[in-house]
Amino acid sequence: MRQSPNIIITGTPGVGKTTHCETLAERIGARHVSVNQVVKDNECHEGWDDEYQSWIVDEDKLLDALEKDVKDGGCIIDWHACDLFPRSWIDLVVVLRVDSTNLYDRLKARNYPEAKLQENLDAEIMEVLLDEARESYDEEIIVELRSDSTEDMEANVDRIEAWWKQWKEDNRSS
Ligand SMILES: Nc1ncnc2c1ncn2[C@@H]1O[C@H](COP(=O)(O)OP(=O)(O)OP(=O)(O)O)[C@@H](O)[C@H]1O
Ligand SMILES: [Mg+2]
Repeated sequence: MRQSPNIIITGTPGVGKTTHCETLAERIGARHVSVNQVVKDNECHEGWDDEYQSWIVDEDKLLDALEKDVKDGGCIIDWHACDLFPRSWIDLVVVLRVDSTNLYDRLKARNYPEAKLQENLDAEIMEVLLDEARESYDEEIIVELRSDSTEDMEANVDRIEAWWKQWKEDNRSS
């Protein structure tokens, strides 16, 4: 039994996953698990895909690398996919959403090539990550939150922190 829950923060690239995870990890003393970093550090990949600006992930290797940390609980998992984790690992799935204009500006600021930028905008509009979450987890553990402004982010962090505390309260071993 985990002492603390595991949360996935997911969404289209540029939606604010890492910003949320870092703030949350500091606030609640959770572990920010940057899957990108884990993939890189443990070489759970078959190379870098330049077109998608992402690692070609070896999912089996990645799950092996994550298992020990995640089994102990208290992880905030930062990744632009959520369908590869075993359901038993995950207590809450947060899907961040952003307005197209904001996403455009954020990706433009990163000098994304036009095709790549358009592809991510399409993915956000088509709710690709939300669908993926719904196909992979029970509706009750999925929450969709706006990430358009700093105020949104602060409200989201407060909400997730409250959820975290409640989970610990509810799952306290007596
Ligand atoms: N809610 C928000 N309000 C204003 N700016 C934000 C918000 N969320 C993120 N940003 C800004 O958008 C940019 C992208 O955020 P971040 O790096 O956290 O996204 P990400 O989802 O982790 O992206 P990636 O999938 O590429 O790792 C950053 O410059 C960040 O400061
Ligand atoms: Mg990130």
